[in-house]
Amino acid sequence: MNIVPATHEAIEQAGEALRAGQLVVIPTETVYGLAADATNAEAVRAVFTAKQRPADNPLIVHIADWGQLGDVAAKIPPVALELMEHFWPGPLTVVLPKLKWIPEEVTAGLDSVAVRMPTHPVAREVIRAAGRPLAAPSANRFMQLSPTRADHVDPNIGDFAAMVLDGGPCEVGLESTVVDFSGDRPKLLRPGVISRQSMELVMGSELDTAVSDEPKKGPGMYRRHYAPRTPVRLVSKLGPEDVGIVLGNATGPGQISLGDDADAYSAHLYETLYDLDRKGVAEILVEIPPQTPEWEAVQDRLRKASHSGPED
Ligand code: TXA
Ligand code: MG
Repeated sequence: MNIVPATHEAIEQAGEALRAGQLVVIPTETVYGLAADATNAEAVRAVFTAKQRPADNPLIVHIADWGQLGDVAAKIPPVALELMEHFWPGPLTVVLPKLKWIPEEVTAGLDSVAVRMPTHPVAREVIRAAGRPLAAPSANRFMQLSPTRADHVDPNIGDFAAMVLDGGPCEVGLESTVVDFSGDRPKLLRPGVISRQSMELVMGSELDTAVSDEPKKGPGMYRRHYAPRTPVRLVSKLGPEDVGIVLGNATGPGQISLGDDADAYSAHLYETLYDLDRKGVAEILVEIPPQTPEWEAVQDRLRKASHSGPED
């Protein structure tokens, strides 16, 4: 795996590699992504191969400026535009009716496309250097933890890429909020650090919630997901002997406190699970965060990381 600092030269090389149909791992403010030229069906297929991801899970198309939005979406409902204008660039993905040229590999055959304009300067510069939108899922194998640092990218993924651009730790640390505008009413498909409340305030209306027995709309909808290899169990309080994540002060040597601020907690959750995963313990215990709206995204990821049933 070829990890390189995201210098100007490296970014130009990444752009060339992408235009040539190769894959590049790029930093974004949420998590690292495995990027391919969204206009190149073969390159997009290589992403699915690298991730061992089922072909019926669509990818997010990343754009660097507003002009590119019109190259991707066929129609933009006014309420979607309001949301985008408020939160872009940033950790918000919107699902919109797609233009015909977008390869069906990107959208898994759906007539909608997920679009995001990241705020991370390296992500934006790579998209500009490539000169086209980039399809990029998180740079992890299917069902596993998303990497939030270059050195947390699974070499099995990184080896499929021409390079892994190191842009430092991801500030947000959880995957983007996904809102679907392709149906009659806007629907929250995946909670993220852009909260439901803040979006409802901007939209002036309520967001529907996707229910899990709906047909699969994407990998975020699987019950088990975002999981380290070590089993995760949610508990109300850790004992001094327990290994895992606490909300208040640590009371034992195997404990890491991520504090009680939801955004700060989100920023460090995946890297902490990654580190705990490598301790060789039988089980990682995590204290259940408060059942309040600002913790919705963390609750969602912890629920999925700890789901031990069938992987569907
Ligand atoms: O923060 C992020 O979103 C990261 C970075 C790299 O941008 N990407 C990411 O991609 O998390 P991925 O592939 O791991 O998750 C893609 C999500 C799925 O959960 C799914 O809900 C949604 O995007 N998605 C993509 N296309 C869709 C579509 N046409 N309809 C519904 N959902 C779609
Ligand atoms: Mg993912």
